[in-house]
Amino acid sequence: MPIHISSQRWVLETRQTAYAFGLNSVGLVTHHYWRARLPRLDDYPIPPDPSGFASTDGFHHFVPEEYPAEAGTKYIDPCLKVRFADGVRDAVLTFVDSSVTDSSTPELSIRLKDVYYPLQVTLHYRVHADYDLIERWVTLENLGTEPIHVERAFSAKWTLPPGDDYFLTHMYGRHLDEFNLQREPLTPGLKTIESRRIIPSHCAVPWFAIDRSANEDSGEVWFGTLAWSGNFRINAEVTEFASTRVSLGWNDWDFGWTLQPGRPLDTPPALAGYTKGGFGGASRQVHAYVRERVLPHGGTPHKVLYNSWEATLFDVDEASQSALAEIAAQMGVELFVMDDGWFHGRKWDNAGLGDWWPDEGKFPHGLGGLIQKVNDLGMDFGLWVEPEMVNPDSDLYRAHPDWVIHFPTRARTESRNQLILNMAREDVQEYVLGVLDKLLTENNIAFIKWDMNRAASEPGWPDAPGDPRELWMRYVWGIYRVWGELRQRHPNVIWQSCASGGGRADLGILRLADQVWVSDNTEATSRLRIQEGYSHFLPAITMEAWVTDWNEGFVPLEFRFHVSMCGSLGVGGNLLNWNDADRALATECIRQYKEIRPIVQLGEQYRLLSPQMGPFSAVQYVSQDKAEGVLFVFRVHVPEKYNIPHLYLRGLDPEALYSVEGFDEPRSGLAWMEAGLKVELKNLQSKILKITRI
Ligand code: DGJ
Repeated sequence: MPIHISSQRWVLETRQTAYAFGLNSVGLVTHHYWRARLPRLDDYPIPPDPSGFASTDGFHHFVPEEYPAEAGTKYIDPCLKVRFADGVRDAVLTFVDSSVTDSSTPELSIRLKDVYYPLQVTLHYRVHADYDLIERWVTLENLGTEPIHVERAFSAKWTLPPGDDYFLTHMYGRHLDEFNLQREPLTPGLKTIESRRIIPSHCAVPWFAIDRSANEDSGEVWFGTLAWSGNFRINAEVTEFASTRVSLGWNDWDFGWTLQPGRPLDTPPALAGYTKGGFGGASRQVHAYVRERVLPHGGTPHKVLYNSWEATLFDVDEASQSALAEIAAQMGVELFVMDDGWFHGRKWDNAGLGDWWPDEGKFPHGLGGLIQKVNDLGMDFGLWVEPEMVNPDSDLYRAHPDWVIHFPTRARTESRNQLILNMAREDVQEYVLGVLDKLLTENNIAFIKWDMNRAASEPGWPDAPGDPRELWMRYVWGIYRVWGELRQRHPNVIWQSCASGGGRADLGILRLADQVWVSDNTEATSRLRIQEGYSHFLPAITMEAWVTDWNEGFVPLEFRFHVSMCGSLGVGGNLLNWNDADRALATECIRQYKEIRPIVQLGEQYRLLSPQMGPFSAVQYVSQDKAEGVLFVFRVHVPEKYNIPHLYLRGLDPEALYSVEGFDEPRSGLAWMEAGLKVELKNLQSKILKITRI
């Protein structure tokens, strides 16, 4: 059992790591260890005691409390901030008891209570021993009769070993330019990463990694993520006493929650881990967990899909889609997805959202004919929807103008000509559930792309039952509820999460969505960088990647295929414009992809050379049993006299003998990893080399 309790100290052990905390001499639950697992329980340090420094500081600046509530002389960044009915704004939490639930993922609960007010705070810890990960969340309960106002409720604070010499890595971006990695020193004070847009957004990712001097292959990394698909905040703090901590949770910007008696509040899970295996090791830990514990169908590789968006935009009908489907099927595509434009009144982006039935002009006999055609061609059929949205020019909006998020006295700011339905409302949830359920029940639909194309504005909820700011959380739960219910009713459907590309990629949505549309930027050379950033956090099976016509005069089709083959392969170009040679190449690439698909989608990923470091990049995938691997190498445009870098393979069995495609002699795994190899490439050339254990 990986949870050890002795004299009010708790040690959570995973395969390689340990996380320890306990009551110190003044009864405060304090953190004291998070690093490699130690041989004996007595080896772990004891909880630190408070000592004074100056009357201007509280001891919390050097004694790391496990879940500090705002109170007393704590000037540090708190996890919890409340206001009681009488106006008192301090929460003084004291330890009550702890309990353990034994299972394959055992759980520890620590109960804390305010010393005076009827507020109970339960800290939850779930140990994912095989993945070296710990999951934390908190339950707040009002045991009294009057409401308690919650102003901040983070899910966890993670404390690093003493020191102020850390670096924080996080990701930022924009539409068409998601998942840029940024590594920077953590200096005294607070660094905040956040979203205020109702989705995690393109500009920030609910993920962090902290290191001192790690590289891709080795070095200590502490990393974590929040399983939440809305506004979030990551606060990394370094105190004046060289104590470094990072908190994760709901964003407390415009936050408010009325904690009513008898109605507990659970925060979303925060997951974190520690490794000595560098950034690559950290990624692989989360990848395995996501594949095996989060994704609804994580063990089943995705089909090769075709998506019509870039070919036909809104101009879809049975004839245009059938023409594309015929070519797609000949090339070996397994799933044909019709994107935007198919529903009532949708000619451009200014009308139709909300009216989720086939447009009578484009599909006079419904979707049945097209679906049958696609199925007859041997492919599954998939469809695009954007259920949270409404165009003012729609039957839905004309009937229910009050269903959108709005302030009654303010203009409703449109973005892409659309407004956001208030998914916190039960009537809105029922509507969305009803129309999508009808679509899925009446049609043979195997795949849904769930899109979301704008951020929030005027975040009002006129008839809110509680604090209207609860909207930010209740909206996300509304989506989880509708999507979860649809999953239950239609368990075989595969879902994609899209928000104008990668605006909603997180472990919360991946309990519902099987994959993510990572970026609307499908230009292959930019995509190399975007995909590399994404891979720090989420596995290749979730990374839908299309081959399109962007930059087609410059970047060869084979290169474009190879980039997309690093994830879940899709095709999104206008196939009507592809000549015979293009189609033959595509057929061959799709055939090859099907062969390596289990290695890419279910194997371990190793980033050998970053596209951010130079014009030559490489990424390798190895099957779980180390019997097979595949190496992708890319060279973007550089002057001809370029010194091709040496590559060192990773993840092979050192003792076993392997052959690598293109190299005559087999060598030991250790030799490929230590002596390496060189792959000659010309400008804008790429190669895929199979690695086989002999
Ligand atoms: C944004 C998505 O990211 C695109 O792939 C496409 O589905 C459009 N929306 C359709 O409106």
